[in-house]
Amino acid sequence: MLGRVVISQEEIAEMVDRMASEISAEIEGRSPVFVGVLKGCVFFFTDLVQRIKKPLEVDFIQVSSYGSGTNSSGTVVLVKDITADVRDRDVYLVEDIVDTGVTLNDVAAMIRARHPRSVRIVSLLSKPSRRKVEVDVAHLGMEIEDVFVVGYGLDYAEEYRNLPQIHELIPEG
Ligand code: IMP
Repeated sequence: MLGRVVISQEEIAEMVDRMASEISAEIEGRSPVFVGVLKGCVFFFTDLVQRIKKPLEVDFIQVSSYGSGTNSSGTVVLVKDITADVRDRDVYLVEDIVDTGVTLNDVAAMIRARHPRSVRIVSLLSKPSRRKVEVDVAHLGMEIEDVFVVGYGLDYAEEYRNLPQIHELIPEG
């Protein structure tokens, strides 16, 4: 069942604005590749890159790790690879939420294997209390407590992604 609003549309817009200006200052003269981790990133990703008024390239990667429930299987399988050549490029990996850290850790390793100049992680949300693997998030929207959230790209069994704000999901029963 859909619960309280955890992050409103206004708060999301403020976070995305702040992150876009931090990143804009950092990428001056660099033309980086922004790689969105599908599917959860899409709303955040498109809002973010439109606010960065600098030359950049966009690409996407999709991995499967969460199945259709709220518990990670702990195995990350590549579903869709990037098409850009990232050798000697600056890469920004854009994710919706860092939970255990397993997904981003594995995705970052896949990207690093292609010899980019740098890899930086951008995430809208983070649940630090759930971390199993250390992940260095260069640009973060905000930390949240250990609750399952949906909306603004985040799903539960592929539902709720199109909500414009982020809600807590209350488990049934
Ligand atoms: P990690 O590998 O445990 O860090 O999990 C990262 C992925 O799990 C995210 O990209 C989401 O797809 C999913 N995930 C983790 N927490 C939530 C949540 O609260 N709501 C929806 N998806 C989540």
